[in-house]
Amino acid sequence: MSITARELTNNKIWLAPLAGITDNPFRAICKECGADVVVSEMVSVDGLLYNQDRSLEYAEFEESQRPFGLQLFGSDPEIFKKALDIALTKNPDFIDINMGCPVKKVTKRGAGSALMNTPDIAASIVRETKKILEPLNIPLSVKFRSGWNMFSTNSLEFGKQMQDAGADIICLHPRTREQMFSGKSNWKLIAELKKAVNIPIIGNGDVLVIEDMIAMYEQTGCDSVMIGRGAMGKPWLFKQVKNYLKSGNIEPITTAEKLEIIKRHLEFMIFHKGEKQAVYEMRTHFSHYTKGFRGGAKIRNRINRLFDVEQILILVEELYNTQ
Ligand SMILES: Cc1cc2nc3c(=O)[nH]c(=O)nc-3n(C[C@H](O)[C@H](O)[C@H](O)COP(=O)(O)O)c2cc1C
Repeated sequence: MSITARELTNNKIWLAPLAGITDNPFRAICKECGADVVVSEMVSVDGLLYNQDRSLEYAEFEESQRPFGLQLFGSDPEIFKKALDIALTKNPDFIDINMGCPVKKVTKRGAGSALMNTPDIAASIVRETKKILEPLNIPLSVKFRSGWNMFSTNSLEFGKQMQDAGADIICLHPRTREQMFSGKSNWKLIAELKKAVNIPIIGNGDVLVIEDMIAMYEQTGCDSVMIGRGAMGKPWLFKQVKNYLKSGNIEPITTAEKLEIIKRHLEFMIFHKGEKQAVYEMRTHFSHYTKGFRGGAKIRNRINRLFDVEQILILVEELYNTQ
């Protein structure tokens, strides 16, 4: 059963694509906490063509994670076309195109946020991708920034061009490429774009706590909110959002609930990757789970030297229970 762009975006909470973070286990835990829509880490279209097995691993997902979006990046419309055949064998619910990545390795090849400097190529990628997706009823979203730098802010024009080229959904993270992640994202640009297009728009940037989500909806009129860093080490933010939407109250998540969620995340990780790899890969997540805690640095150091899951969990429990 295919899903429409409106169904994907009607007051939905999205988990942002986060390279190195939003793998299968992390998406699973965010979904379980209440994220409505999840997106893969970014996958290179060139990688899909030339290093298929490795790249396709990023496109794996569980049925319980639907609706699931597969995010692609690249700069050549012809390669996009060929790579889509491979990507679609995984049967994602929608395809997202990354036009916002600021990392040099990506932009120097004309991909990610560099596409905001070449809107004609960006539009051509969208047109060619749409030709393949439309007959299959698979929505296409495009994620981008406010522009390359403060002198070339073009999100309004660019968003309209992507709509005209065939995008079904657009997602704006209103920082320039040069800003990377510094400064504040400029939500006014989301509000401005929302008024100018008639496809759904997802607001993204600096939604770190539930009050930010409420403010983002109010200030921008966006159709959906996407959360990235706010969920790193805090997947329970989605649970709080769900509780709020049900009751209208902002309820704190208890320490016991948080610890239960961390355990579930670890279980998902072990299920997908085996215990040895899970312990290794969870180190990144434990660094987020212990961030800002009194005594957190010491615990992180100890966790990074441990290989036993039970011992790691005891340390995390101790840390959470003594704050
Ligand atoms: C560690 C990390 C990895 C990211 N990876 C991706 C990615 O693969 N694709 C993408 O479109 N954006 C990526 N982003 C950007 C986020 O999706 C999001 O646009 C940005 O973090 C702003 O939202 P936030 O303030 O909610 O974090 C990444 C951001 C971070 C911090």
